[in-house]
Amino acid sequence: MLRLKSPNELPIGIFDSGVGGLTVVRQIHRALPHEDLLYLGDTARVPYGTKSPETVIRFACEDAQFLVEKKVKAIVIACNTASAWALPALEREFALPIFGVIQPGSLAAARQTRHGRVGVIGTSATIRSGAYERAMHALDPALKIFTRACPLLVPLVEEGWTNHAVTRAVLREYLAPLLKQNIDTLVLGCTHYPLLKPAIRRVVGAGVALVDSAASCADFVRARLRGLALTATARRRGGKIHSFVTDEPDRFAQLAQKFLALATEPAHKAELPTWSGK
Ligand code: DGL
Repeated sequence: MLRLKSPNELPIGIFDSGVGGLTVVRQIHRALPHEDLLYLGDTARVPYGTKSPETVIRFACEDAQFLVEKKVKAIVIACNTASAWALPALEREFALPIFGVIQPGSLAAARQTRHGRVGVIGTSATIRSGAYERAMHALDPALKIFTRACPLLVPLVEEGWTNHAVTRAVLREYLAPLLKQNIDTLVLGCTHYPLLKPAIRRVVGAGVALVDSAASCADFVRARLRGLALTATARRRGGKIHSFVTDEPDRFAQLAQKFLALATEPAHKAELPTWSGK
């Protein structure tokens, strides 16, 4: 007899512009080990961080539509750029819980800051959106927020130069104006930056708290799914991770190991629907 899956047993869909979102997958897998995760990396169209808001929103709608067609119970936008621009559109267009990374990262920063001076780094599109400032000021209007776009960091991480003299020099250059403002907390507002944590720590010193938006997002998603009574029932086996990419899956395999630090099954090729509005 055909048994319909209860919504709790459906996977959580997670999408990103490419492989970077696997930092979020890794944290969600840690926080919710029994959940099946379905990851979509739009590797054919990465990066989103240099694109216009209209393009990012259209791509995000196509990514979400793909996951909805795969029957997920909730969607996590792992990409900071897509979270910054597309969350309201996705919430309007799709009738399932959708979580971005900006709100959880902002909550964590507002909680951690000691003197109310917070730095935010991200892609050009994320910083231009003002989404982190809006989210943090909604939590505490007195916070002083200093932002900096760091467009060179994504390619450096993808090149594997996470602990390279060039990367450290680039980080010093990008972070100097924020440090001059005496920030006590720094939000790593991009999927790729958790891999730069040790290098960033060396530049900012021990006195600045680092907020990893991937880790904050995982804790937030766990709390929200519990609140909605949508978590999977605990089973003995761990949750499975299935990945789809829009470009050739081969390159994904090499990078996935770095971002996920877990063995994964090979990714499948995804054909995305064309978004023309509903
Ligand atoms: N995933 C993007 C983000 O977190 C970084 C890579 C890109 O520009 O697409 O903003």
